[in-house]
Amino acid sequence: MAQVLGISFTATELLLVTAIFGLVFWAIRTSTSRVPKGLKSPPGPWGWPVLGHILTLGKNPHLALTRLSQQYGDVLQIRLGSTPVVVLSGLDTIRQALVKQGDDFKGRPDLYSFSLVTNGQSIAFNPDSGPVWAARRRLAQDALKSFSIALDPASTSCYLEEHASRQAKSLADTFQKLTLESGCFDPYEHLVLSVARVIGGMCFGGNFPQNSEMVTVVTTSQDFVEGASSGNAVDFFPILRYLPNPTLKRFKDFNQKFITFLQKTVQEHYQDFDKNNVQDITSALFMHAEKESTAKGVPIPREKVINIINDIFGAGFDTITTAISWALMYLVTRPDVQRKIHKELGIHSSFAPFTIPHSTTKDTILNGFYIPKERCVFINQWQVNHDPETWGDPFEFRPERFLTDGETTLNKPLSEKVLLFGLGKRRCIGEIPAKWEMFLFLSTLLHQLEFSLTPGVEPDLTPTYGLTMKYARCPHFRAHPRSAK
Ligand code: HEM
Repeated sequence: MAQVLGISFTATELLLVTAIFGLVFWAIRTSTSRVPKGLKSPPGPWGWPVLGHILTLGKNPHLALTRLSQQYGDVLQIRLGSTPVVVLSGLDTIRQALVKQGDDFKGRPDLYSFSLVTNGQSIAFNPDSGPVWAARRRLAQDALKSFSIALDPASTSCYLEEHASRQAKSLADTFQKLTLESGCFDPYEHLVLSVARVIGGMCFGGNFPQNSEMVTVVTTSQDFVEGASSGNAVDFFPILRYLPNPTLKRFKDFNQKFITFLQKTVQEHYQDFDKNNVQDITSALFMHAEKESTAKGVPIPREKVINIINDIFGAGFDTITTAISWALMYLVTRPDVQRKIHKELGIHSSFAPFTIPHSTTKDTILNGFYIPKERCVFINQWQVNHDPETWGDPFEFRPERFLTDGETTLNKPLSEKVLLFGLGKRRCIGEIPAKWEMFLFLSTLLHQLEFSLTPGVEPDLTPTYGLTMKYARCPHFRAHPRSAK
């Protein structure tokens, strides 16, 4: 029995009182950050002590945060553990933050999961947003452009077109063969391999390995997108790193396998490096590394080549595979749309629910709300792509909404309201090649084939939340030559 202020407590009571006092103190401390006079913090719902709003996010944070935005507006604040997170919705607000106030919002938070990607040296998943990041981003962007959409001097087409057309034609043959042999097939694994060979060809030319290690790496990227999703509890509750955590283990294993595979591939490619015959992204980066080491400015040592390749190759296959798989699924569930697409329509799906998390680089004000430096910021792309004010009926798959003038021309102002690649200083560097590649794959596949599902099969289109969202694998696809119809 202990006496406090003249009152007697048992040891358990004392412990309980201390814990409650500690929690209340902690909750008050975390909820009152210093806001300059005359300004206010973004609004948000009440959050649990210790947990904050992690339970509110649930299995589908993009849906939960869209619902909250309807109540609290385009700039709202939640708390994950003890970390405050600002959530931005609404295209105008997101444009204001990422484009007009681009420097203020170009940072990345210092998240634990980021430290596991590319040994903490990624361009995309890294708290650095200073001159080193800017130089590496520019370098990656230039090398990607030169060996994707720029013309191959030895040919009449660009590198991307050569690789993508070859892979898409071979994929169309595979799909037909699988239908003939087995009646139906699951397109995912074949598709991801074809798309990986395109970015692999652009990164390494003929040296891109075709072995089982490559197949394992590219077919397990779901382990990455789960671990790299916005709102991953492990980033906000350090204790989860030390408890048994299968998702985290898969994420770590994937990153290790991925970097080992690319290290080996880059080293092997270096054996063949000929500075007079630069035909791919890795060789271009080797050239640059050599020049940089002798010139002034920010040096880019050779091991950095591996890290840059990691970013380009890593971002270049899961995203595009996911986009094309959604397109194929929409086509088989909506044969009327497939007929229209055979008449050259584009396709749109919102499978990247959030950008990679941002953070503020200095104290700033957005829509009248004060946001301090180093505040973690989630950008809800899914909300923008499902905003009834912009789209009217966002849940209807109606790609003809992007056409105008009697369905003859693209409605450019409307199609620019789709938010899939981010905006501003952190905007995806692969947007143009990605759009070309999706177009090349889909146009080749649809030129040759008509897709359908085994009759009677009802596919499950529910997306699984992650950095990119996919539907459950579906083994019931069929592909027949168009001329056979
Ligand atoms: C359909 C395909 C793709 C989609 C939907 C997509 C989407 C995105 C998104 C949402 C971001 C984050 C933007 C932000 O944080 O504000 C991003 C960043 C990035 N993307 Fe893509 N991407 C695609 C394809 C590609 C390709 C093909 C490459 C390269 C070959 C690529 C390379 C990158 C890189 C390096 C970043 C990081 C930029 C930075 O942090 O400065 N992406 N992408």
